[in-house]
Amino acid sequence: MKIIASNFKTNHTRSSTKSFIDTINQFLESNQIKNEVFVFPTATSFDNFNTVSNLKIGAQNAYYTKNGSFTGEIGTEQLDEFDIKTILIGHSERRHILKESQKDLTLKYNYYKSLGYTIIYCVGEPLEVREKGLTETLGYIWEQFEGIDLSYDKLIVAYEPVWAIGTGVVATAQEIAQVHKKIKKKISHPLLYGGSVKPENLEEILKIDNVDGTLIGTTSWDVEQFKQMIEITSKN
Ligand code: 13P
Repeated sequence: MKIIASNFKTNHTRSSTKSFIDTINQFLESNQIKNEVFVFPTATSFDNFNTVSNLKIGAQNAYYTKNGSFTGEIGTEQLDEFDIKTILIGHSERRHILKESQKDLTLKYNYYKSLGYTIIYCVGEPLEVREKGLTETLGYIWEQFEGIDLSYDKLIVAYEPVWAIGTGVVATAQEIAQVHKKIKKKISHPLLYGGSVKPENLEEILKIDNVDGTLIGTTSWDVEQFKQMIEITSKN
C-alpha cells in the first residue's frame, strides 16, 4: 500500500491545522482507507490529536536532545507531550536554507533512531548537479546518505529533487524511475517521491517503478486537494 505525506512547512495556524487533521481523520475513517498517511504541521500546532492508527502526525524538525539550552529548538520532551514518534530529517530547505550539515543530520538521525522514531529521511540534488547528468546526481545523493544507517527498520526515504520543490516543475517519469531504481538497490525501505506533486500528476507518479508513495508540500495544504490525493493513493 502506497504512502502519502503532507509537509506543511511554515503554513497553517493552530486552528486551521486542527480542522485539517480532523477532516482527514474523518475522511480516512468513513472511507475505510488504510494507507499510511503522515501530516507534518508546524510545532506550534502540535496537539493531542485523536487519529486513526494509520494517520500519523510528525515533526518537521527537532534537535537531538531531550531538553536543554538550544534556543529556538525543541527536543523529545516537547515531542513526547504530544506522543510524536515521527520526524523528517534532511529536507532540502533545512540543508540549504537553514544550513544543516551532513554531520548535523547524522547526529540527529542517530539520536532519533536510538529512540525508535519513524524517520523520513530526505535526499535530492539541486539543479546545477542535475544538469551535469545522472552520475553526478547519484554521487551527490550518495553523499547525502553518508553516516546514515540505511538498515534502520523505521526508515522511509524521500527523493525530492530541489529543482522540483515548489517550482511546479516535476521530474519526468524517466528521471524519477532512474534515481529510484538506484536508491532501491541500496535500501529495502519505502521510497517516496516529492516535488510539485498534485492531483493531476499523482497517479502517473505512483505508477512509476520503485515509487512507494509521495511527500507533498504546496498542493497538500489545501484539505480538499489532500483528500483527493489520498483517494488516488488508496487506489494505486
Ligand atoms: P512541493 O510539493 O511544494 O513541491 O514541496 C515538496 C516538498 O518539499 C515536500 O517536502
